Amino acid sequence: MPETPGYLRYSPSVEQPAANEHVIFDELSRTMQHITRTMASRYRHAYRPVHAKSHGILTGTLQALPNLPAELKQGLFATTDPHPVVMRFSTNPGDMLADSVSSPRGLAVKVLNVDGEKVANHAGETTQDFVCINGSKFTAPDPEGFLKQIQGFDKGLGVGEGAKEAVSTAARAANAVLKAVHLPSATLEGIGASAVHPLGESFSTVAPVRYGDYVAKIGFAPASENLKALVGKSIDLHEDYNALQLEIWKFFRHEDAMWDVKVQLALADEPGTEEKDKKFPIEKADVEWPEDDSPWQTVATITVKAQETYSDARQTYVDERLSFTPWHALAAHQPLGGIMRSRLKAYEEAIKYRVQRNEREKAEPKSAEEIPA
Ligand code: HEM
Repeated sequence: MPETPGYLRYSPSVEQPAANEHVIFDELSRTMQHITRTMASRYRHAYRPVHAKSHGILTGTLQALPNLPAELKQGLFATTDPHPVVMRFSTNPGDMLADSVSSPRGLAVKVLNVDGEKVANHAGETTQDFVCINGSKFTAPDPEGFLKQIQGFDKGLGVGEGAKEAVSTAARAANAVLKAVHLPSATLEGIGASAVHPLGESFSTVAPVRYGDYVAKIGFAPASENLKALVGKSIDLHEDYNALQLEIWKFFRHEDAMWDVKVQLALADEPGTEEKDKKFPIEKADVEWPEDDSPWQTVATITVKAQETYSDARQTYVDERLSFTPWHALAAHQPLGGIMRSRLKAYEEAIKYRVQRNEREKAEPKSAEEIPA
């Protein structure tokens, strides 16, 4: 019999909030607000302060696999009831850059018709979001580290606003964004290397969430053969200003597809191990959990039928009126760790400003019929 790995059991004590962290959270939220307001004055319209540009918005169905072992049959994945989902593909900058400037990518998934107790701020709602990037770890370990990065970006924006020429080319603007999140400039220089098809990417929450009785990161990976064929496939990002949108649209005009939903469970480190030495830390989001010790395991699939991926009505509804945040969650999937805690206020304030500035009504769908075709 193989030995059962020592999965980390969830209890509130898996988190170790820092004494001053609310001060940092407020400052993070203020900085995000400054970015979004600066961009709004540039564009005369409010966008998300990061991940402003969407490229495709899909609707599909999530269904947990039958006969999961007990440790995987948790929270949303405890039953095989099908759930409608909305998937928003984005890129990292707060600018509406040409897609020829490649940058890190995001995928936000909203699961609908979810019963069960929610985290306090989401009481009465029926959605569960997973907000992911195409990486396996975050750029900063904790809120303080991220604040420094994002303040650097914010200062850069001020200079850019003053010196319009500096931001008038997409490449310069992108450079500022990439520096802000302390990504190596190779990310920009290596445009060829990262010019791959967005539907071949794998995404993850990179920071942990409660997984019922356990703790996990959640991920999404191509499962159908037609998506797998796009893994690492080069595309021409100069083909169109909105090349990524075009690729997603072309694919789903005729094809159906399937993603695997995966979880990587945390293992319990030796009792008494300091956070900085842990293999599966909760409070350090810049650490990739070792796959050799705890592999990603498939718990569900998302199926998507051929569809119109970017109708005006759908784009307006999702970009303008919806918000995706890890704090749209079941209590069983409460976001964990400092980076996750810092996101509660920042995302709430961002959508509040966006709908007010653009004179829209905030929406949180109660049924799939609310998502425009
Ligand atoms: C695990 C780390 C993180 C990941 C994976 C992540 C990823 C994302 C993604 C994919 C989006 C776009 C969501 C959408 O499509 O609507 C987004 C938006 C956003 N992120 Fe993060 N992010 C992370 C950390 C943070 C932190 C630490 C903050 C600030 C405290 C932050 C602030 C925001 C804000 C304000 C938005 C815009 C929300 C809105 O206007 O609706 N993010 N993030």
